[in-house]
Amino acid sequence: MKPLRPEILALEPSGIMKVAADHLDDPEVIPLWFGESDIVTPAFVREAAVRALEAGKTFYGPTRGHVPVREAIERYLHRVYGIAVHPDRITLPGSTMLTVMMTCQCILRPGDEVILISPYWPNIRTVVEVLGGVPIDVRLEEGPERWHLDLGRVEAAIGPRTKAIYVNSPSNPTGWIMQPHEQRALLELCREHGLALVADEVYHRNVFEGPDPAPSFLALAEEDEPVFVLNGFSKAWAMTGWRLGWMVHPKSLATPMRVLSEVNNTGATSFAQYGGIAALEQGEAFVAEFRERTRHNRDLVMRILGTHPRVRLLRPEGAFYAFPRIEGLADSLAFCRRLVAEEKVGTAAGYTFGRGNESHIRLCFAIRPERLEIALERIRDFLDRWP
Ligand SMILES: Cc1ncc(COP(=O)(O)O)c(C=O)c1O
Repeated sequence: MKPLRPEILALEPSGIMKVAADHLDDPEVIPLWFGESDIVTPAFVREAAVRALEAGKTFYGPTRGHVPVREAIERYLHRVYGIAVHPDRITLPGSTMLTVMMTCQCILRPGDEVILISPYWPNIRTVVEVLGGVPIDVRLEEGPERWHLDLGRVEAAIGPRTKAIYVNSPSNPTGWIMQPHEQRALLELCREHGLALVADEVYHRNVFEGPDPAPSFLALAEEDEPVFVLNGFSKAWAMTGWRLGWMVHPKSLATPMRVLSEVNNTGATSFAQYGGIAALEQGEAFVAEFRERTRHNRDLVMRILGTHPRVRLLRPEGAFYAFPRIEGLADSLAFCRRLVAEEKVGTAAGYTFGRGNESHIRLCFAIRPERLEIALERIRDFLDRWP
């Protein structure tokens, strides 16, 4: 046993999987636990990948992504943000998840601290721990109308070992969207303290009001400062199973990223990358349609669940999750397990999204509205008789 790292042996499934594991094969369960819809990737994207496959795109490619897809990302960023990003800054190594891992590999040595703006997607914490780093939670506050980032608390958490701040907007699980003035202030703080900033913007097109895409750190970051803007295809174009994402990183990392990409995955799946080009270039109608569905669903959640007397739910501004606080709840895992056993609705336990979330559950509202409505009614009935 000696050569095995204790922190690896201690790894446990997240509070999403701990609820789901025993029920994955039950067709009666309405799944709101994972971060995806029930929509198959649009046909024009699938067809582009099939064409690439038929054309023999089955070989190794450049490890930072095939040239046509990196050029398509460059054009896309210019079109949706009006920003010219130098191609040396764009890497598509595989999934968005992999961009998180590679970014942290660029920043962290064992013992280094990373401030995680919480509630957060649990995998970010696990990446930090796998690399021997130390996650430090700074929780958003639940204001009367919106989630709120208290920059003073972020600054107070910075210590001699702090290397980076991770923030995700639009946010999984809260639906919070960071405003440009908040982004500017956080970036300034990173600059003052010499910290890297990891901005996870994978939900950039999943916005209900306000600008589309959501405000991005791309608009603020200098070409060669330690800012990593992570993005991907999963959430805007219903491509979760494709494992395709990209990042914009400091220009000086072009060569190191080529090598890191080689040792992590040796590049993203070749033919899948051509599906990615189609999504970027022909995907606007789908993005808009999906946004309408999730906005409608967000309103359903607010109406059916948000009005329950035991529920406190801030209206999600983006992404496709609701993160309600349930009055009197102290054990979110037990709650979600009982909910799935008794009502056949799969949700995720709040504790897994960082400290201070034991009274919350997360539900994904991207599935078709008729099914979502049934699930919400079941949750409401459960709450009526709980505990
Ligand atoms: C905040 C956040 N970042 C990154 C990812 C990873 O995305 P992908 O499936 O494209 O690897 C997810 C997936 O749920 C996420 O919620």
